[in-house]
Amino acid sequence: MNVSFVLNGKPMSVDVEPSTRLVDLLRETLDLTGTHIGCDTSQCGACLVMVDGESMKSCALLVASLEGAVVTTVEGLASPEGELHPMQQAFRENHGLQCGFCTPGMLIAAVDFANRHPSPTEAEVRGWLEGNICRCTGYQNIVKSVLAGTAAMHQSV
Ligand code: FES
Ligand code: FES
Repeated sequence: MNVSFVLNGKPMSVDVEPSTRLVDLLRETLDLTGTHIGCDTSQCGACLVMVDGESMKSCALLVASLEGAVVTTVEGLASPEGELHPMQQAFRENHGLQCGFCTPGMLIAAVDFANRHPSPTEAEVRGWLEGNICRCTGYQNIVKSVLAGTAAMHQSV
């Protein structure tokens, strides 16, 4: 079947099987390997992407359901000129990553969170990130990064 949607700002049209998952299309066909697969139980959050402004698990999403959708992966967060998104910058400055495996999913979750919570508490950040697993257990700096990134996003608008 043919599905048309916008991916990282570019319209695209793909031919897929009805059972093709978004994460597989991204990684295997489109070579967008920033979106990771960290589990087979839809629990880790490493595969999060933004769909119509909401973070969603691309391992649990069929491409067939995306007709007309606007999808952003971690590759689409920076500006076309390569300037980091304020949340990426905050992770960089606050050491919000160790091995980096969970980072794409954390960033997408964090941007979604920041869009909904302009001035969050630390507890709200921790609550939101419950669906994202960091196997390096770098949660302290991740929370710090999300707080700083949220502040930066709302300063720059
Ligand atoms: Fe999607 Fe783990 S790979 S939640
Ligand atoms: Fe290694 Fe989170 S930084 S899994």
